[in-house]
Amino acid sequence: MEQKLLATIPGTRDILPEEIARWHLVERTAQDLFERYGFEEIRTPILEPTELFARGIGADTDIVGKEMYTFDDPSGRSVTLRPEATASVVRAAIEHYLTRGGAIRKLYYLGPMFRHEKKQKGRWRQFYQIGAEVLGSDHPAIESEVIEMLLALLARLGIEARLVVNSVGDARCRPAYVERLRQELLRDLSPFCEDCRRRAQTNPLRVLDCKVESCQPHIERLPKISDHLCAECADHFARFQSYLRDAAIPYEVVPRLVRGLDYYVRTAFEIVSGGLGAQNALAGGGRYDGLSEVLGGPPISGFGFALGVDRLVMVIPEEVGRRSEPKPDVFVAYLGEAAFRRGQEIARRLRHEGFWCILTFGGGSLKSQMRQANKLGARNVVIIGDDELARERYPVKRMDAAVQTDMSLEELLSQLRSDRT
Ligand code: HAM
Repeated sequence: MEQKLLATIPGTRDILPEEIARWHLVERTAQDLFERYGFEEIRTPILEPTELFARGIGADTDIVGKEMYTFDDPSGRSVTLRPEATASVVRAAIEHYLTRGGAIRKLYYLGPMFRHEKKQKGRWRQFYQIGAEVLGSDHPAIESEVIEMLLALLARLGIEARLVVNSVGDARCRPAYVERLRQELLRDLSPFCEDCRRRAQTNPLRVLDCKVESCQPHIERLPKISDHLCAECADHFARFQSYLRDAAIPYEVVPRLVRGLDYYVRTAFEIVSGGLGAQNALAGGGRYDGLSEVLGGPPISGFGFALGVDRLVMVIPEEVGRRSEPKPDVFVAYLGEAAFRRGQEIARRLRHEGFWCILTFGGGSLKSQMRQANKLGARNVVIIGDDELARERYPVKRMDAAVQTDMSLEELLSQLRSDRT
């Protein structure tokens, strides 16, 4: 019987070897840079108790309300594939006393996240984030430093993007603002879309984030949170901006920026890029003092961001992406079984010395092996035939210069070493 062909679940995909170079470039650049800024990697489980997100992200958010992959595990516990990692990092900090004694911890992570969102360009149901979180400090200079690091990463990858910032207030000033917003909305809901009408009741802040065209002029007229901040939040926001200016980081204050997770207080920000379409946010983040207490922990201040790797790889310029594609140092071409065995010896030695060496098993004509070497972008091709076996000297073709020189294995090694430096 013919079997039905199985394919990936909608919203998920395979990242194939052909495209992995860009992913590696992003991951390695981020790891290298973040470590320079004093961040350490943390790996938390992909599967977490559902309540972690229900409490941490907020029951009224889209993520918790309709996008989580939640199920009962075989022991009957409700578990969820993480839709984000900030709640997990804070849980880990509480569980392992990471900020004991007032320590400031700078942590970063990378990995898959899961949200059952409507499919769209740049939006996946399994997507990848690289994130960084600073725990244990409420200083606004931490915020500008973390943003500086994020922008430095984008600059290294050749990506141009814009920083937009806002303050969403805190437990002291936000409730009164939200109430004001609700009253304003309820005065006349008729021009708003269905989602906004619902949110006017459940989570009025989310109305500010609505993307529906016809809502835009009406949203513009709503009261702005920046006009309703308490003195402490206003001062924090002003100091944050002064640190951004000190670091010569261009930014724009967007009073409508509210973000889709409930844990934010004070500073919120996004990095947006042209060329991404409607899903234009490359990264987002902010401050989440108070999240630890919501999760049952002690007060721990927090600030961080996550960037969408799937979106990032879409906007890496062609020439930067190409530069990152690795090329083999040597392709060993051979004719006959004895030459193949010598080829294995040579490949083993080259690899042992740290060089990337390709030796195919099929062999084939010299012409077809040269074609393969070209396709792989090999820098050098070593040719082994009967004559070379006895002489222990091999024609080595430098592919970029199209010159060929006879060399012993030791001579080849010293050339490869000097090419490397
Ligand atoms: P977020 O804004 O929900 O924040 O996600 C951060 C980034 O992840 C987005 O800007 C976007 O690039 C990417 N992203 C989100 N959803 C998708 C999707 N369905 N497909 C592709 N990419 C997506 C957070 O997750 C917070 N945990 C960030 C944070 C860290 N705040 C403080 N610390």
